[in-house]
Amino acid sequence: MKVGIDMGTTSEGTSASLDIEELLATRLLVQGNSGSGKSHLLRRLLEQSAPWVQQCIIDPEGDFVTLADKFGHVVVEGERTDAELIGIATRIRQHRVSCVLSLEGLDIEQQMRSAGVFLNAMFDADREYWYPVLVVVDEAQMFAPSVGGDVSEEARKVSLGAMTNLMCRGRKRGLAGVIATQRLAKLAKNVAAEASNFLMGRTFLDIDMQRAADLLGMDRRTAEMFRDLKRGSFVALGPALSRRPLKVTIGSVETSARSTSPKLMPLPEAPQDVEDLIFTPDPEELSRPVVRRPAPQPRPASDILAELSRPRPEAGALVEAKPAQPEISAEEREAMLDGLFAEILANPEAALRPDAELYQDFLVRCRIRRVPGSAPSLSVFRRKMAVARSGVDAETAATETWASALRLADRVTEDLQGVFLMMAQAAVRGLPCPSDTMIARAYGTHSARRARRLLGYFEEQGLIVVHADFSGKRIVAFPDLGAETAPGDANAQDTGMSGRAAAE
Ligand SMILES: Nc1ncnc2c1ncn2[C@@H]1O[C@H](COP(=O)(O)OP(=O)(O)OP(=O)(O)O)[C@@H](O)[C@H]1O
Ligand SMILES: [Mg+2]
Repeated sequence: MKVGIDMGTTSEGTSASLDIEELLATRLLVQGNSGSGKSHLLRRLLEQSAPWVQQCIIDPEGDFVTLADKFGHVVVEGERTDAELIGIATRIRQHRVSCVLSLEGLDIEQQMRSAGVFLNAMFDADREYWYPVLVVVDEAQMFAPSVGGDVSEEARKVSLGAMTNLMCRGRKRGLAGVIATQRLAKLAKNVAAEASNFLMGRTFLDIDMQRAADLLGMDRRTAEMFRDLKRGSFVALGPALSRRPLKVTIGSVETSARSTSPKLMPLPEAPQDVEDLIFTPDPEELSRPVVRRPAPQPRPASDILAELSRPRPEAGALVEAKPAQPEISAEEREAMLDGLFAEILANPEAALRPDAELYQDFLVRCRIRRVPGSAPSLSVFRRKMAVARSGVDAETAATETWASALRLADRVTEDLQGVFLMMAQAAVRGLPCPSDTMIARAYGTHSARRARRLLGYFEEQGLIVVHADFSGKRIVAFPDLGAETAPGDANAQDTGMSGRAAAE
């Protein structure tokens, strides 16, 4: 179905149409200096497309909450536990309800964490809920910064990983990223590069102009025109907008930014049960631990220096686990967590369930068994899953080469680490290269084609080199580890065993 929404007027006096279906497939990047009219543009886009497509807005300023009154968006306050955010995001996808994740009032670290956890849970939704959603992220440079800032590495990784998932791999799962930034040079390149549609507003700084010119494939002199654009005017280019650069003046909006609109509007006869649907937890959720994240205290420089000089903790260890209560030692607590972990993995269904869902199960079990201290975070849980799914044995796990493999795995997003480590363990131990079916299963899919694409992706990242022996069997080499798998049949059928067992 072709639906063109009206964004305003072009310099030729015609209506500026944005093809929503095309946008879902090709994503959009909006850039312009502060006050150029980006948020206004996003609002116009959201208002016009609201009847056609589900929307999720990541809103650092709480500006878009006014969409709730007129269009029925559910406002989700970002100050929640990870488990709460995951539950809400999962139900947002199940029930196809538009929402605004309002991060107003949170500090930057919390904003990044909340947005990252929420987006990842939307990304991890069960396949049957992969309906199209426009995911609009205002001030995207905050969530996908090009360089590390003054926030913890963990928050940065969660948020950047989620934005990368959204822009690079979200399409298949129905997620279409629409991101806006004041400063293109501050936005991570891989995130910006995945948009095929652009709306470029007034831009002053040369470095931003150059990045814009590069993205649009314009020469830098032509890009000078971005300097003279008026507020509310943008140059549009891309398959959903225009085949050649076209100046567009964004039209008016029906709702206003909350900051300039103090008066409340009466609620329309919106479906009242929508909020119930989203906010009423299922009975199982009530047993999840409700632990509010404390606001992080500013850390003294001496602290940071001390941390930098400490040796890196063993990757994969439960580094975030708080010290156990006095009656149980750290080792005992670790053993308890390992036990719970093994219980989850023992379920044959576990391989095909999203990590976010398994994590919820894990949290409930922690609660039931009264494991003291706060539960490990989702990313720690994911890493443990990835290591367990790799099928590595205790002897290999203790080697220095395996430690290097774990460090290398940090270079891929969390949900790819299981596959990556499975391949790495086969290489470190010189076992036959896993088949496409085994790779697919480790990624939680049945698609062999997707397995091959994953290998292609790792190769593009410079992490592996795929080659073949004379009989055509596949070998995967890990240059950084100085190891490669033995030749393996890429088309071998799944034996139902782990990588390790199948190879033996
Ligand atoms: N096309 C337009 N028509 C009418 N008013 C506009 C238009 N575009 C922007 N404005 C007004 O200009 C002001 C600044 O716009 P907006 O908040 O969208 O800028 P911004 O690019 O998001 O800035 P920042 O990066 O600081 O958030 C707002 O008051 C907005 O209502
Ligand atoms: Mg804005």
